[in-house]
Amino acid sequence: MLIRKNIEGNVPSSEITPKQHFLSRRNLITGAAAAGVGVLALRSVPGLIHPDAVHADQKLEAASSKYTVPDAQTPFSKATTYNNFYEFGTDKSDPAKNAHTLHTRPWTVQVTGLVKKPLTLDIDSILKYRPLESRVYRHRCVEAWSMVIPWDGYSLSEFINFVQPLPSAKFVQFLSDDKSSDMPHKPFGYNWPYSEGLRMDEAMNPLCLLTFGCYGEVLPNQNGAPVRVVSPWKYGFKNGKSIVKMNFTDKQPRTLWNDMAANEYGFYSNVNPKVDHPRWSQAHERRIDSSAFPKTIPTLMFNGYGDQVASMYAGMDLKKYY
Ligand code: MTE
Repeated sequence: MLIRKNIEGNVPSSEITPKQHFLSRRNLITGAAAAGVGVLALRSVPGLIHPDAVHADQKLEAASSKYTVPDAQTPFSKATTYNNFYEFGTDKSDPAKNAHTLHTRPWTVQVTGLVKKPLTLDIDSILKYRPLESRVYRHRCVEAWSMVIPWDGYSLSEFINFVQPLPSAKFVQFLSDDKSSDMPHKPFGYNWPYSEGLRMDEAMNPLCLLTFGCYGEVLPNQNGAPVRVVSPWKYGFKNGKSIVKMNFTDKQPRTLWNDMAANEYGFYSNVNPKVDHPRWSQAHERRIDSSAFPKTIPTLMFNGYGDQVASMYAGMDLKKYY
């Protein structure tokens, strides 16, 4: 098959052979091959089918990871009830109440644009492609609150390597689901679907997580089921939820928040205590943890991930490219 040849020709055999990975890789290849002939059949994964429930209670197996911060974790109950997911309402408590209408199976992710092989892949093939890691990340919202969340996933770079972007691909755009039938609370006045993007080197940074779960469970709908991106050195809005399409492009893609207010929501949106939002300071954040009275703490440059990401922005004026 064309897809199999594609893989064998470009993925080092050292990555193909480990036994524990073999099945995952085969699943993705099979899914890709099926996608090549049209709409993909749902691959059944017992125990992983997410019901239309607000709280996911399906466990995910994820190994612990070196990409972990020691900060106290935000309790599950807070991380899943204080959300931004405007498709389900603009109040922080809306997504937990309303997102049960999102159907997360069957679900496909379309890969388009400047890639060697455009594909439509079934979510379960993508989920099983690589072993999952549980990474405890700081999660800083542009609105100056933050959480510490154990996310479950694998590096987005592994998926990108599979789809093989062309050298001309400079950015990747993530488009979220936009089915009005699943989103009766979707407000008017926004340029749906939710769109976000990363420069290719950012997307390939090992920290950038293709995320399927949190707290060892399948993502609750309100947190972006069945798949989202988490780039922890950026403000939370860069992390598109419920992704249905990745488009590789040579031009900086449009993003929803940049369309709405370009002076407030830049394309890069790296966490930066020295560059204020036009309407508020970014020097501090309210850390949402188990306490009834969240502490205000200083915000760290790149959210504390400078060692791993600062070199990508060497020589860039981060006030201009905010
Ligand atoms: N993705 C979609 N599709 N729609 C959204 O409204 N909100 C963003 C981001 N991804 C958003 C989205 C914002 S502003 C933040 S802070 C994070 O999701 C919130 O993620 P969380 O609810 O899991 O904390």
